[in-house]
Amino acid sequence: MRKIYIFDTTLRDGEQSPGVNLNTQEKVEIALQLEKLGIDRIEAGFPAASPGDLAGVNAVAKAVKNSSIIGLSRSREQDIDAAKEALKDAQDPCLHLFLATSPIHRQYKLRMDKKQVLETAEAAIKYAKKYFSKIEFSPEDAGRTELDFLCEVTEMAIRAGATVVNIPDTVGYMTPSEFGNIFKTLKENVPGIEKIQLSAHCHDDLGMATANALAAVMNGADQIEGTINGIGERAGNTSLEEVALALETRKEFYGATTGLVLNEIYRTSRLVSKLTGMIVPGNKAIVGANAFAHESGIHQDGMLKEKSTYEIISPETIGLKDSKLVLGKHSGRHAFREKLVDLGYDLSEEQVNAAFAKFKDIADKKKNVTDEDIRAMIEEKLIKT
Ligand code: KIV
Ligand code: ZN
Repeated sequence: MRKIYIFDTTLRDGEQSPGVNLNTQEKVEIALQLEKLGIDRIEAGFPAASPGDLAGVNAVAKAVKNSSIIGLSRSREQDIDAAKEALKDAQDPCLHLFLATSPIHRQYKLRMDKKQVLETAEAAIKYAKKYFSKIEFSPEDAGRTELDFLCEVTEMAIRAGATVVNIPDTVGYMTPSEFGNIFKTLKENVPGIEKIQLSAHCHDDLGMATANALAAVMNGADQIEGTINGIGERAGNTSLEEVALALETRKEFYGATTGLVLNEIYRTSRLVSKLTGMIVPGNKAIVGANAFAHESGIHQDGMLKEKSTYEIISPETIGLKDSKLVLGKHSGRHAFREKLVDLGYDLSEEQVNAAFAKFKDIADKKKNVTDEDIRAMIEEKLIKT
């Protein structure tokens, strides 16, 4: 089974979510939980962005022992110097350099031609090599970069000393087949590609981030970048919990797995949500409140007979106690009877039938019928048997 390295950027791209601002203590708290989760590489921030971010990256670098700590840097010497200062105490530091390569970014943002882009990136990698043995280079907006130029950029980055080349779909524009094809093309055409790791960094503007990351895995990516709960710039980044569980659940299909401690996923998700203030939607895959909740009678009946009828992942896998059978208007008698037993009632068949009819009346008026509603219904003798 191939190991896929997991690069977490919750503290950098995730913190770029509008409205999110983590102080040093919060960054360290999240980073220590990411370390417990078994994250291989933690991007702790962008040291040149502010003195506070430099201090945050430095504090994470001091606190975390078992994950590589990464700082982001534009392809310029002042940024690299700031990252060097921030990462000086890391056990296993890595610099993440980037420069945009797509025609749109070259023309409007950088005002550079291809040659200038190649020269600027090469000079930055070579400068950084004096201080860092591990360097990841990202051709920003790789998804919209001409494939032959992307091959040229990758070859230059390898020659200059990058140890990882990361392919960002910066604006979430790719389809899985297009994104997968980039990895296949780089693997087949770039001299020296076997010396480095290839990484995928996807954004979710069209809801494709996880699918694109998995397409990259299927085409040879060694590393996936993303965030917890999928937070990040605009519509966010690849959700790492989705990638980890997709690989775990369909191991044979992907032939790859991560080294994550999966039963730390739920705890990590809650912590990130609490400290960033970003609420996890109820229907969010893996960590949403409804991800292991079943409401309809048909599904609840199946679940009570055999859980694998409607659950492909067990809640214990991600560190939850159990799945939930939620009582609502679609629920059936089987789940209702189980609930009565759970609540300690021993009713005759006739009483259960009467209670079930009353329950359906309440459920028509209320989204979820709680344990308290059921207790009240029985104990206030609303049921005449
Ligand atoms: O999305 C992006 O292109 C980035 C780079 C800095 C890697 O976050
Ligand atoms: Zn990004």
